Amino acid sequence: MIRLFVNVDHVATIREARKTIEPSPLKAALLAEKAGAQGITIHLREDRRHIQDDDLRIIREGISTPLNLEMAPTEEMVKLALEIQPYQVSLVPEKRQEITTEGGLDVCSQEETLSGIGKRMHDAGILFSLFIDPDAKQVDSSKRVMADSIEINTGKYTELVSVKKIKAELERIHKSAERAAEKGLKVFAGHGLNYENVKDIVAIPEIEELNIGHFIVGQAVYGGMENAVMKMIRSIKEGRGKQS
Ligand code: PXP
Repeated sequence: MIRLFVNVDHVATIREARKTIEPSPLKAALLAEKAGAQGITIHLREDRRHIQDDDLRIIREGISTPLNLEMAPTEEMVKLALEIQPYQVSLVPEKRQEITTEGGLDVCSQEETLSGIGKRMHDAGILFSLFIDPDAKQVDSSKRVMADSIEINTGKYTELVSVKKIKAELERIHKSAERAAEKGLKVFAGHGLNYENVKDIVAIPEIEELNIGHFIVGQAVYGGMENAVMKMIRSIKEGRGKQS
């Protein structure tokens, strides 16, 4: 059974558009759990554009499934992770100007730094995962820095249009998953997944965990719009009825 971790960052994106308290990423996380999600993922970005420091604590304490914390490999983030103690830390590259995570972490060029962070996570009992592109060199490097798992970046696969190119990218993902599993690494995947493109990803037997956010939050808007508008109309009628 593949575990689905739901990323609730974009609930916070809507909240931060008004810098208020609604909608609550914790409330969304609890509903995701109720629906069967096996874990919750949040990404604390350096510019705090969606998830805030307080969310880390509130969500960590409020949910009952494991918390996967995505973050950049910086000292600031490492200290926060050690304080919050999530179930798992997933290191991702971060560029301030990017809209979302673009490309996997270059593990090969920073093995020393990453193995240092990995050791600190392991000493604290936190699982250590690396978000990488489907590339043999990055898989081998991930093993050398003693990651527990890799999360294969499916971003490129989800953006391709040509059937031939999609097939080739899926093959790369499959090969990387096999290579990682042979080395004893757990294999996860994520980025850009939706109801359709997820199917070929989960057909890869080595993949055991998924992180999906943007699409689910988008669909939740459609699924919840009718209910929210009906409730508002009810409130309007109730308020009008109060007039003498
Ligand atoms: N995995 C990682 C490492 C990510 O950075 C993200 C986006 O925050 C996801 C998975 C989820 O991607 P999406 O929001 O496109 O489903």
